[in-house]
Amino acid sequence: MNLIASLEGLVPSLQTGLERIRALSELDDIHTAFLGRKGSLARLMSRLPELSAEERPAFGKAANAVKEQLTALIEDRRAVLIAAHEEAALSRFDPTLPGRVPWQGSLHPVTSVMEEICSVLEKMGFAIASGPEVETDFHNFEALNFPHDHPARDMQDTLFVAEGVLMRTHTSPIQVRAMLERGRPPVAVIAPGKVYRRDYDITHSPMFHQIEGLLVDTDVTFAHLRGTLTMFVREIFGPDVRVRLRPSFFPFTEPSVEVDISCILCDGKGRTKDGEACRVCKSTGWLEILGAGMVDPNVFAAVGFDPEACSGFAFGLGIERVAMLKYGIGDLRLFFENDLRFLRLF
Ligand code: DAH
Repeated sequence: MNLIASLEGLVPSLQTGLERIRALSELDDIHTAFLGRKGSLARLMSRLPELSAEERPAFGKAANAVKEQLTALIEDRRAVLIAAHEEAALSRFDPTLPGRVPWQGSLHPVTSVMEEICSVLEKMGFAIASGPEVETDFHNFEALNFPHDHPARDMQDTLFVAEGVLMRTHTSPIQVRAMLERGRPPVAVIAPGKVYRRDYDITHSPMFHQIEGLLVDTDVTFAHLRGTLTMFVREIFGPDVRVRLRPSFFPFTEPSVEVDISCILCDGKGRTKDGEACRVCKSTGWLEILGAGMVDPNVFAAVGFDPEACSGFAFGLGIERVAMLKYGIGDLRLFFENDLRFLRLF
């Protein structure tokens, strides 16, 4: 019965070992030494064949009991070491240190300018409308009074998808959709969205954003257009901004105008405070920011509105252009490069 004594001797020997260790990592070594596949317990158990058949049951029972005791001792010690470890970590915790500020995202400058423009126009009574970015030739050109082979189609470098299907080159097709959907005047909508053109340099990107406005009713006049736009640009650029309308051409408006505002950098003087030529308005004192006009009767006819019984105005502007002016950004492509150093400025 020598072997059973040896088995039971493992318990005090493990106790002595456990008392000596201080770190959790050492615990694994002890576990292997006593309970591992080639550990002390396994080695004693492999001597089972030395015993007679009568001795074996007692030996087996003792082996199981010892194994349980050894496991319990190791787990108890593990709990003690973990508690000590946590307490040590806690004593290193300094509650007076300032907290880490979590990383916070922000709106893209194009998004925030778009939201600002929409909220100004919504307050004036316009509702938001939308349309598809892949558009038909009918909505993008035909119904807007761009006849086939009309040179005005060249004003916009169109990306075609298939015969009669294209990436919309402006948000104006949403005018057509809004009138067709509504079926009759009055219509008062704005439509922000992405538009696409074959164009790429510091003031052009193949994808950019516009916002379209359309008001149709029975007695809409050019004075309404001028008043609406003046109020709108003052909300966006400040109360002292002056507005100038220049005659222009768009197929879907007649008359058509280009709308300029007094330069927001030099206040329309053409020179900065130090007498230098203003680089934003190139010394002209004016910045072009909008296209607009009275809805052409042909457009009304294309959507089934009676041109004799209604009138309306429309306008369209580029969001990136407004954002560039507002934030003094010189290269439009910066908006779409997703450089965090640039985006963090907003
Ligand atoms: N769609 C024109 C463009 O992209 C902008 C525009 C001009 C829109 C005059 C209008 C308008 O609604 O009346 O160049």
